[in-house]
Amino acid sequence: MKIAIGCDHIVTDIKIKAAEFLKKQGHEVIDVGTHDFIRTHYPIYGRKVGVLVAKGEVDLGVCICGTGIGINNSAQKIKGVRAACVTDVQTAVAAKEQLNANVIGCGGRVVGVGTIEYILDAFLKAKYQPTPERDALIQKIDNMIPDNDAIENDHIFDEYNKKWAEGYYHD
Ligand code: RB5
Repeated sequence: MKIAIGCDHIVTDIKIKAAEFLKKQGHEVIDVGTHDFIRTHYPIYGRKVGVLVAKGEVDLGVCICGTGIGINNSAQKIKGVRAACVTDVQTAVAAKEQLNANVIGCGGRVVGVGTIEYILDAFLKAKYQPTPERDALIQKIDNMIPDNDAIENDHIFDEYNKKWAEGYYHD
């Protein structure tokens, strides 16, 4: 499976460990960043993961930030993404079986490396259990996001990146 993974600077080390775990399972992993601990902004990376998923360039996305909330919320804003921010295996499996989630995420500071590995393992093994009702509901959910330029507009976060380049942010 081809998997995109992204994080913010709070959990880069945890993201790297999650990526290694996925690679050991034989998956191809595209790490969209961030790659260090320099202050950045989680939506930049949530969007990057979401765009790859929505465009079908990867089979799955993984988003990790401190709480998991910000980065998964950002990925979710890309039409076609169904992101699940979870803290436990049961919810991860339900997200796949019932919602056919295509982005799975967690808070690195909330669950830690061990639980993230269990979550990823369970999510990857789980299969969507389609029913006509679920299919229809998923389609309705997907269509709640109107067509917009978020998927093509790579400049949404230019303001942040400019300030970053100017040394505006400090740890
Ligand atoms: C830090 O930017 C922190 O807010 C972030 O990692 C995440 O917890 C947001 O949801």
